[in-house]
Order: sequence, then C-alpha cells, then structure tokens
Amino acid sequence: MPSHYFANIQKYTKQNVTFLHTTGTCYHGEYEWKDPKSEDEIVNVTYITKDGNRIKIKGKIGDNLMYLAHRHNIEMEGACEASLACTTCHVYVDYNNLDKLSEATEKEDDLLDMAPFLKENSRLGCQIILSKDLDGLEVELPKATRNFYVDGHKPKPH
Ligand code: FES
Repeated sequence: MPSHYFANIQKYTKQNVTFLHTTGTCYHGEYEWKDPKSEDEIVNVTYITKDGNRIKIKGKIGDNLMYLAHRHNIEMEGACEASLACTTCHVYVDYNNLDKLSEATEKEDDLLDMAPFLKENSRLGCQIILSKDLDGLEVELPKATRNFYVDGHKPKPH
C-alpha cells in the first residue's frame, strides 16, 4: 500500500473525529450521566415506582426526566428513545408541578390518549426537561405501560 494512501486514511479519520467534536454531539441520555456542577444546578426529583417506593434523585437543570431515570435504574422504559412514538415513558406528575411544565404538544396528547391507565396528570417522561422551578418534582410510574415491542423486549439505556 502506498504510504500516501495510509496518510489519507489518517487524515480522513481525523476529519471525522473533528467533525464529531465540533458539532457537540450528545448521545441520548449522555447529558444525564453528568453530575450537577454546583448546588444551583440541582433539581431534586422523587420517582415513585410501581411498587410504591420513593426514590429521591438529585437531577440537574436540563436533564431529561426519562434519561435521568435510566441512569438511576428506575424502571421507565422509553422504547422509542424520546422520539414521541410510544407511551412507555408515561408518568403521573404531582399537581404542585403539573402547571409548571410546558404544555404538551398535540403529538404528545395523541400518544397519551393511547396510554393505559391515563389520568389528568399524565405526561410522557421523555418530554419533561428539568428546570430549577421544578425542584421537588414528584413523578409516579403507572402500574403498566404499553410495550410496542411484540417480543416484550425492553430497551436498555446506552
Ligand atoms: S420514550 Fe417514546 S414517547 Fe417517550
């Protein structure tokens, strides 16, 4: 193999790496694996599991509620990876914080209509992004969600 050919491959590879860095690519859920940098950033969230266990988590501003759950092994599925194509991230939001959330989009509402055990305070967890005014947020997982995977597959966080 000519030496300049090898040099070109390296250059090409280098360009790809540079490209990935300059776009600031953040994989799904990657941000949620970072700890809060300061107290000011912390947003306390309580997840209430299907068994009624209350799990308190220190999230941070900008965290996606579903990916934060994945980081802490809380059983919130998220089969479509937050692309608004399922209802497996369905949660009930405590009434003190429900109105602080941005309004559900039409797509989210349409999906929620298909969610089992729908309630007035139902939302899709993957559409909730933590902000400081959500400090103290409590979300409860429904008794069951509809899994769109025919074989019962449960996606694992990456
Ligand atoms: S993970 Fe599918 S809509 Fe939230």
